[in-house]
This record gives sequence, C-alpha cells and structure tokens, in this order.
Amino acid sequence: MRAIHITETGGPEVLRLAELPDPEPGPSQLLVDVAAAGVNYLDTYHRSGAYPMPLPFIPGAEGAGTVTAVGPDTGGVAVGDRVAWATSLGSYAERAVVAATQALPVPPGVDTETAASSLLQGMTAHYLTVSVHAVQPGETVLVHAAAGGMGLLLTQLATARGARVIGTVSTPDKERLAREAGAADVIRYGESDDVAGEVRRLTGGDGAAAVYDGVGASTFDASLAALRPRGMLALYGAASGPVPPVDPMRLKAAGSVFLTRPVLEHYVATREELTWRAAEVFDAIRDGSLRITIGGRYPLAEARRAHEDLQNRRTTGKLLLLPH
Ligand SMILES: NC(=O)c1ccc[n+]([C@@H]2O[C@H](COP(=O)([O-])OP(=O)(O)OC[C@H]3O[C@@H](n4cnc5c(N)ncnc54)[C@H](OP(=O)(O)O)[C@@H]3O)[C@@H](O)[C@H]2O)c1
Repeated sequence: MRAIHITETGGPEVLRLAELPDPEPGPSQLLVDVAAAGVNYLDTYHRSGAYPMPLPFIPGAEGAGTVTAVGPDTGGVAVGDRVAWATSLGSYAERAVVAATQALPVPPGVDTETAASSLLQGMTAHYLTVSVHAVQPGETVLVHAAAGGMGLLLTQLATARGARVIGTVSTPDKERLAREAGAADVIRYGESDDVAGEVRRLTGGDGAAAVYDGVGASTFDASLAALRPRGMLALYGAASGPVPPVDPMRLKAAGSVFLTRPVLEHYVATREELTWRAAEVFDAIRDGSLRITIGGRYPLAEARRAHEDLQNRRTTGKLLLLPH
C-alpha cells in the first residue's frame, strides 16, 4: 500500500510517500480501507519530534473508511462497516489497522469524508465546552483562531449553548468565516495589540467567563488578562509555540482564575465516554446544528503541503488527506 512513512523527525519534508506491505489486523483489530485521513496539529508534533515517537512510523491519528478485514474479538464489527477514529495512528495510508476499542461506527446520514473530519476536533470542542467549562447561556467566551479547525467548532458549540462568542482571527476572510459560525464579535489580533482591552470593552468591563486558547505563546498573556474573576483559561494547544512556565501568583492577580492544559485522551478515557462524545458530535452534524467546514483536501502524496499550509496560517476549517 501507499503510505506516508516517517523515518526521521523534522520539518514537513520528512513526510515521504512510500510503498509498504499491507498491515494485518491482530486480535481486537480492524483493517480499514482509508477514505480520508484528518490532518491535525498533533500530527505535526509527532512529525517534528516534539511528541517523541518510536521510528519509523506512519502518522495520522484520525480517519474514516470501510472495514475490509477483522481480527478475532472485534465486538461485532463486520467487513463492510463504515468506521471513524480519532485516537489511533497510521491514518496517512491507503489502509490502516485500528483497534476495535478506538473505532466508532459512522451513522447513516454522515458521509465518510465528514466523519473523517469531525471526531478529533469535534470531540475536543465538545469536552472543552461541556466538561472543562460547561458554557452557560448569556455568558461571554473568547475563542482564539476562530476560523481554524478547532475555532469554527468551538464557536458553533458555545453559541448553541447560548453564549456570546468573541473570536480572534488574522484576516478578513477568516473574520467572515468566524461570524458565519456564530461569533458575535471578532477581533483581528494582528491589528489590535490590546485583545484583552477589547474583550473588556465588549463585555462592559466584566471579561470573559472562559477563554479557549489553542494558539499558546502569542496569546497567553491576553487570554489571562481577558478573563473575568474566577474565569477558566483552557489552554488546549500551542499553534504559535509553547507557553513559558507560569507563576501561580499570576492566577491570583488575574482574579482567582483557573488554568488548565487539557488533552483529548483524558476526556475520552473510557469506551463509554468515547462513544458518548462521538455520538453527541455525530448527532449535532445530523440535526444540522454543527456544520463541518472542510477547508482543504490534499492527495496523500501532498501531505507535506498540508502540513506547510496548516503551520503557516494559510488554512481554515478542517484539512483532509485523500489516499485514493
Ligand atoms: N488539547 C487537545 O485535546 C487538542 C485537540 C485538537 C487540537 N488541539 C490544538 O488546537 C490547536 C488548533 O488546531 P487546529 O488543527 O484546529 O488548527 P487551526 O486552528 O486550524 O490552525 C491554527 C491556527 O492558529 C492560528 N495561529 C496564530 N498564530 C499562529 C502561528 N504563529 N502559527 C500557526 N498558527 C497560528 C492561525 O489562525 P489565524 O491566522 O486566524 O491566527 C492558524 O490558522 C492546535 O494548537 C492543536 O494542537 C488540541
């Protein structure tokens, strides 16, 4: 099969196409013909070595496709079933082996490309708005990079729960997308050097109940300063680089605020929690309350370009790799 094979960590140039033997499913594993693989920041951390991986490996935590073979003990999953996953590896390939415990059935009414686009960022946006800070009607939340894969989903989910969303973006096109997703106000953080001041002005001096920050280094100080007393800073990523060590006294000075650095795996810790979050995401897609925006489709061989575009702020919404 054709797959992206990482034999050394580094920049996007280490994403090379290779011809490899088809993987074989072992006990409790499925072999899936991959229709689409989701591209995520996580994949760039695996690729660069920021999150160390044993070499060589096929990257890609997320995808969807059709089961073509099953090992023993796969709990009723059958050849021909459509499945999606967000917490596996090896998705940048024509075929992938997925543990049955990580596979989720794709419900009727959700096409396979949409399924490959929804789970990793969708379940993340779900745990951030439901479990890290349960968004309340009438409150204001700040969503950084609001036109990104995560940002568009967070904006929609927080708006659906009755919050007012203030988004930050870098360009007019991204501003339009953030507003279409429901953002009531949008700040261009490249132009305003006082994002926190803008948030305070827009909230009558109160500040935001929660800040969803996947940008990290360049936004962290403003995120902290934009919170209302006892607000929640969910620092869930570092697209602009890691945040330096934080003195806990800064949380006191900001108004007895909370800081958390959450990650999806801890919020889909059991099969029950995984299937619950995935079902909520798929249900929202099916009833039309959550729109998945696919901002870029790339042939498998162009994985390098997908990573370059993602890391250079050239993309909006979800990016997919298409192996066939
Ligand atoms: N913790 C978790 O469980 C979890 C799960 C999924 C994703 N994440 C994190 O969520 C974040 C967003 O992921 P995504 O896949 O949805 O990406 P994305 O938001 O589609 O892309 C990143 C965006 O960040 C903004 N950005 C600001 N400064 C940047 C810089 N210096 N370099 C690159 N981008 C910059 C850009 O938007 P503007 O041009 O508008 O500034 C860019 O488009 C990542 O940090 C990722 O690691 C975390």
